Amino acid sequence: MRLMDEELFPSTPGKIKIERAHTIHRQLYRCFASTSTIFLWALFLIALAASYATFQSFVDSSSRYFAASWGGLQWEKQVRASAAPRRPGGLSVLVTGAAGFVGSHVSLALRKRGDGVLGLDNFNNYYDPSLKKARRALLDGQDVMVVEGDINDARLLAKLFAVVPFTHVMHLAAQAGVRYAIENPASYVHSNIAGLVTLLEACKSADPQPAVVWASSSSVYGLNEEVPFSESDLTDRPASLYAATKKAGEEITHTYNHIYGLSITGLRFFTVYGPWGRPDMAYFSFTRNILQGKPITVYRGRSGTDLARDFTFIDDIVKGCVASLDTAERSTGSGGRKSGPSQYRIFNLGNTSPVTVPALVGILERHLRVKAKQKVLEMPGNGDVPFTHANISLARAELGYQPTTNLEAGLKKFVKWYLSYYGYKARNDEVTRTGSAKIM
Ligand SMILES: NC(=O)c1ccc[n+]([C@@H]2O[C@H](COP(=O)([O-])OP(=O)(O)OC[C@H]3O[C@@H](n4cnc5c(N)ncnc54)[C@H](O)[C@@H]3O)[C@@H](O)[C@H]2O)c1
Ligand SMILES: *[C@@H]1O[C@H](CO)[C@@H](O)[C@H](O)[C@H]1NC(C)=O
Repeated sequence: MRLMDEELFPSTPGKIKIERAHTIHRQLYRCFASTSTIFLWALFLIALAASYATFQSFVDSSSRYFAASWGGLQWEKQVRASAAPRRPGGLSVLVTGAAGFVGSHVSLALRKRGDGVLGLDNFNNYYDPSLKKARRALLDGQDVMVVEGDINDARLLAKLFAVVPFTHVMHLAAQAGVRYAIENPASYVHSNIAGLVTLLEACKSADPQPAVVWASSSSVYGLNEEVPFSESDLTDRPASLYAATKKAGEEITHTYNHIYGLSITGLRFFTVYGPWGRPDMAYFSFTRNILQGKPITVYRGRSGTDLARDFTFIDDIVKGCVASLDTAERSTGSGGRKSGPSQYRIFNLGNTSPVTVPALVGILERHLRVKAKQKVLEMPGNGDVPFTHANISLARAELGYQPTTNLEAGLKKFVKWYLSYYGYKARNDEVTRTGSAKIM
């Protein structure tokens, strides 16, 4: 055995002598001379392959133990199955923020059409993660897998793109909310800036490069006062860190479009609401408080004017997202290099009819059949803008975008969902649905 080792693996390359090489040839010849030895060699190779596979899965599972909850052959198989289109010509979409409000709805809509969908979400606790888990359960039921991971995890992203040739990325993961930036500014930089760059790096290096559709925000219009807000308006006066990170995102995506040929579509959503919505948003917390008999705080503008929002129902937003994916041209780069100019678009996705906050409260009161206890305060200067109003003619022309649900009808659907999800138990005992002075 020692002799064999020395002969086959000389410690210094080039030291091997001619006579020795002759001996090796003769030995090899003798080794392979009979069919039974060939059989033994085959067995040996099979054993080698098997032990390599075991070693690989050991490496996979131990790296999983130390790093994240992903990896392994079984996991890859699930990822592939979830991302595989179910119809000829179907898309294969990586949806980031898939356990979020908009992400879960878009994922379901794509799956319903027969597209392949793989979700990615870090299930952070900015708001109740149990709602995110419930949305994931909904997606699970439609065979959409949501990988738990962060968009800052470059290794995970590289793995996902290595396993699946995604045609599109629907990027909805972000730190949302305007006021929370005062408490936790770093979370906005982490997800909306660093995370975005990590994701775009993975997209640019992927082969094929996917087309990217991502959520910017109407908040980029900042202190602008001329309404309606149009895409061509200047957006250089953000009023919150959230808005500033979304504005930065528009510039960053432009860079990746310019240098690497990534096809980019940015969508400026205007106050999206609906079933499975976000608990940090006013319509949601108003509903909770009204049902629990707690007071709600309604802000007014400086000069006593009512705040107004261009509330957009989730189904309309989903149609805009899907139309953006369908009209996105291919990215032109490969291997991290651009081979020609590629598409760069920005669209408002709003509803074109702003509603004041007192009017919103009125609609909720009617649907809940409970009168709200209101505290009216002047809006603090913490980043919220007094009103938003979208000009959607560009999205109408290019995407066929046409919102069809008004706030009255949309909130009715939201309230129905809220009551079925949280049940009537969540309500304070002193509030009853019938026969009290509070009922309208
Ligand atoms: N809902 C609105 O009114 C509105 C308005 C304008 C823009 N937007 C944008 O639309 C997108 C979706 O918003 P939403 O309302 O569904 O919010 P959401 O908070 O419900 O969804 C975002 C999801 O992304 C996940 N996420 C956050 N950071 C992550 C990270 N670093 N890695 C992986 N996952 C991460 C969160 O866990 C969450 O599930 C966001 O980009 C948001 O900024 C929303
Ligand atoms: C709305 O946007 C379109 C296209 O961007 C623009 O041509 C039009 O002038 C805008 N309308 C208003 C009222 O601002």
